Amino acid sequence: MMVEAAVTELKLKLPVLPEIGVVLGSGLGSFADEVEDPTVIPYADIPHWPASTAVGHAGKLVVGRIAGRTVAVLAGRAHLYEGYTPAQSTFAMRVLGNLGTHSVILTNAAGGIKATYQPGDLVLITDHLNLQGVNPLSGPNNEAWGPRFPGMTFAYTPAYQALALQTAQQLGFNMPTGVYAGLLGPSYETPAEIRYLRAIGADLVGMSTVAEVIVAAHMRMKVLAFSCVTNMAAGMLNQELNHEEVLETGRQQADRFKSLLRAVIPQLHAQSQQ
Ligand code: HPA
Repeated sequence: MMVEAAVTELKLKLPVLPEIGVVLGSGLGSFADEVEDPTVIPYADIPHWPASTAVGHAGKLVVGRIAGRTVAVLAGRAHLYEGYTPAQSTFAMRVLGNLGTHSVILTNAAGGIKATYQPGDLVLITDHLNLQGVNPLSGPNNEAWGPRFPGMTFAYTPAYQALALQTAQQLGFNMPTGVYAGLLGPSYETPAEIRYLRAIGADLVGMSTVAEVIVAAHMRMKVLAFSCVTNMAAGMLNQELNHEEVLETGRQQADRFKSLLRAVIPQLHAQSQQ
């Protein structure tokens, strides 16, 4: 019901409906300025849409065109660590799915666990570990949205992964791949937790994205997801982590990240096979 109210409001306000959703992580907010013919809607003006409280996240929906495609750029997300429920933190995905958006690009800042990563690397996420302690699909299932037990094998759309790797190569940079472990936060990890995450197959660690991917996959939206490695994970270097460093590295890589998004967006098609 709450999702329907937001969808109804947006259908009234938007001159075009978005084919593609783009969620901007820490430090990437300026990508919203690249939208042509933008309709800017503050989250506060959309019924039931959760406000964004994290530093480095703006809190607005920008709908318009990028590279000839209609996009909804989300500057700001609702993290579980802010105290939002799983339903609130995936509300935006539900709204996009119900507006007819067929593909979403999710971006985030992450700690690098894999030793070969360096701060500043843009990494293609190929899979995830849900360690947030909740699943956004728990509770009654809305059959109109998706099945009770959705498969996650192809949640990170294989065809989109191939396309993103090819695009990075064409842009002249090497893009490593990795498995993202989503934790609740908001404390950063301990060195012991990072050793544990490495042992169970994580290459990246962060506090977002996983619940959104589960909901997108539930609604059969195609997903492309990237991390910017803003720091090496806890205990890998002999220094404390801090949010300022995370934001600063994110900002430094913003131009490269934006070029990648701009190059990838026109290639995402509803019909492309998995
Ligand atoms: N851990 C968790 N989340 C993060 C990190 C990290 O090291 N860096 C950026 N987001």
